Amino acid sequence: MVYSANEQRYDAMPYNKTGRSGLKLPAVSLGLWHNFGGVDTFELGARLVRRAFDQGITHFDLANNYGPPTGSAEETFGRIMRTELAPYRDELIISTKAGYRMGPGPYGERGSRKSMLSSLDQSLKRLGLEYVDIFYSHRYDSDTPLEETMGALDQAVRQGKALYVGISNYGPEQAREAIAILKRLGTPCLIHQVHYSMYERRLEQGLQQVLEEEGVGSIAYSPLARGLLSDRYLETIPADSRAAGGSVFLNREDITEQKLAKSRQLNQLAAERGQSLAQMAVAWVLRQGRVTSALIGASKEQQIDDIIGATKQLDFAQEELKAIERILS
Ligand SMILES: NC(=O)c1ccc[n+]([C@@H]2O[C@H](COP(=O)([O-])OP(=O)(O)OC[C@H]3O[C@@H](n4cnc5c(N)ncnc54)[C@H](OP(=O)(O)O)[C@@H]3O)[C@@H](O)[C@H]2O)c1
Repeated sequence: MVYSANEQRYDAMPYNKTGRSGLKLPAVSLGLWHNFGGVDTFELGARLVRRAFDQGITHFDLANNYGPPTGSAEETFGRIMRTELAPYRDELIISTKAGYRMGPGPYGERGSRKSMLSSLDQSLKRLGLEYVDIFYSHRYDSDTPLEETMGALDQAVRQGKALYVGISNYGPEQAREAIAILKRLGTPCLIHQVHYSMYERRLEQGLQQVLEEEGVGSIAYSPLARGLLSDRYLETIPADSRAAGGSVFLNREDITEQKLAKSRQLNQLAAERGQSLAQMAVAWVLRQGRVTSALIGASKEQQIDDIIGATKQLDFAQEELKAIERILS
């Protein structure tokens, strides 16, 4: 049956301007790093995307290497686009990235013009799209002159294969330099995709200031600390959770008693605010409008519903912020 999107989808979601650009992003965006690979069922991925879009999530984030196997998340999303979302292409912001290991040999990773532009061509084929909305350099590459990597991003826009460009995982000084090069080339840096949550605070150590000064937006990835800032692990490690599934980035050893003790206290504070811990974690990264969008992952539709609820209460009292800092310290 042809999918017909919820007509009320734009009623509740806040949309924030991305830096000084004219592009607005939803306060919550959905990433396809996990649960959209060739190892997952297509129907699960399609259900998650439909549930997100039906509630105003217009931004879907990918990378060349998301899967497993690498490339398969783009293939899954391409199939969802073809079969369900094709009529809605102009309502969607679809991003992809290049920079981490994707293929064999010297051109299968990093930031050379050769790697970046061939990777984008492959991504477009897998996605079945003529262009992506945002093309990222996924990481800083000390082996390649920054002019070359930024030149490749600029060329992607001039070729009509990307509308905007961004950087991810760059430090403050690397970001400042990259932003300056892109400005000189005439393709301003739209956004920095950065790891940020109550448990990961590096954004606050200089990078946030650079982005604010330069008018570049920010999107916070893993705002739930991959599930640790939710009720997922408070009692046990569920068999269907990421930590039980052999993820390199979250495994049983990461679920420490020390972390759980903090998460339990944060969960209590969230309950006093009338929120789930996951909702408070998302509201916290978005507090005071510093971050453009919170980039979440989900393995169940109910998790998306829960997170969307965060947008009803994004404000924090000073006492609540202090209490969070006390718990984290
Ligand atoms: N630029 C980069 O280098 C980079 C790196 C990492 C991620 N990213 C991007 O960021 C996106 C999000 O990353 P992430 O998946 O690590 O984000 P996250 O939102 O911190 O973690 C998502 C996980 O938390 C759990 N969860 C989500 N909502 C929940 C809820 N309401 N209640 C309880 N548990 C909930 C689920 O775990 P279960 O699966 O266990 O159910 C879900 O898979 C990625 O898809 C990717 O697009 C970018």
